[in-house]
Amino acid sequence: MGRPRVLSGVQPTGALHIGNWIGAISSWVPLQESHDNFLCVVDLHAITVPHDPKQLSENTLSTAAIYLACGIDPKLSSIFIQSQIKAHSELCWLLNCVTPLNWLERMIQFKEKAVKQADNVSVGLLDYPVLMAADILLYDADLVPVGEDQKQHLELARNIAQQRINSRFGKGQKPLLKVPKGLIRKEGARVMSLTDGQSKMSKSDPNEGSRINLLDPPELINKKIKRAKTDTHIGLEFGNIDRPEADNLLTIYSVLSGMGRDSVAKECSEMGWGTFKPLLAEAAIEALKPIQKRYKDLINDKTELSIVLEQGRANAEVVAEKTLNRVRSALGLIERN
Ligand code: AMP
Ligand code: TRP
Repeated sequence: MGRPRVLSGVQPTGALHIGNWIGAISSWVPLQESHDNFLCVVDLHAITVPHDPKQLSENTLSTAAIYLACGIDPKLSSIFIQSQIKAHSELCWLLNCVTPLNWLERMIQFKEKAVKQADNVSVGLLDYPVLMAADILLYDADLVPVGEDQKQHLELARNIAQQRINSRFGKGQKPLLKVPKGLIRKEGARVMSLTDGQSKMSKSDPNEGSRINLLDPPELINKKIKRAKTDTHIGLEFGNIDRPEADNLLTIYSVLSGMGRDSVAKECSEMGWGTFKPLLAEAAIEALKPIQKRYKDLINDKTELSIVLEQGRANAEVVAEKTLNRVRSALGLIERN
């Protein structure tokens, strides 16, 4: 028996921000000690909305470099590019054929993204969660660490595995596909926008000031935090639904400073925004400094990155092919000689 497995990924659709880091990547790092991690850059997901080919290839490499810069150790984890492993597309097709259309039509993210595409919604956008299910199920993942917005997609992956594959095509004791569990952190699983405490921090928000990107220089971080939306109360607090900005900025501060919720609640209970904002900016700048330094080295000379991605691809492919063959055979597809 090997170690339990983790699978997760981020789309290379633009600069990664502290929401991606806090909600997802930061949970991957400690799991490396106890799990075999498969961490992919999901470029096939990134093309479900209109994209620029040159940007996509740059973002794919830079996302992989960010994984390493955030502390993913290629000796403990396999980092790879999703599209380089054909099994993802093939399992997606097999799962497509057993997934009811209405399961996909009710996905919240599909509905939200479809509105933005007006009359140009691709079949790929609808199929996005099935490809995500294929990503996860190919690696017999035990745990899938993601932000809160992926909860519904994870549930779909579990339902496809259990109700549409295992119960229909599985024989014997061992399930055909492992049914994965999500790992969604308690605090910081939904980091909100700096300019609106009610909406999620997102790569696609046209307002740059709404997010702190992992590669933002210190002056820009200062400027964005200075302009962040606040309220008129004195004294900062967590958990007051009428003060979403206070809750969000305190949460970011507690995670980035490593101080934890209780000490932050105490430190800031009588603080005004004018005192708090420079503290938050300092914590963000300090937390991102080592990531930015390591990223710069990796992207200036891509030799290490390409070795890591090749090794990751090779590791991942062996596992993915095995699972794919198991499913092909259970579905009655004739083996290749
Ligand atoms: P994406 O940028 O959509 O590919 O998301 C990559 C990962 O980051 C997923 O696990 C998301 O759930 C997570 N994520 C994205 N935005 C946020 C956010 N604002 N707060 C927390 N997690 C997030
Ligand atoms: N849909 C995820 C997101 O937008 C990205 C993703 C694709 C993913 N495949 C995955 C996350 C598999 C975890 C596991 O964030």
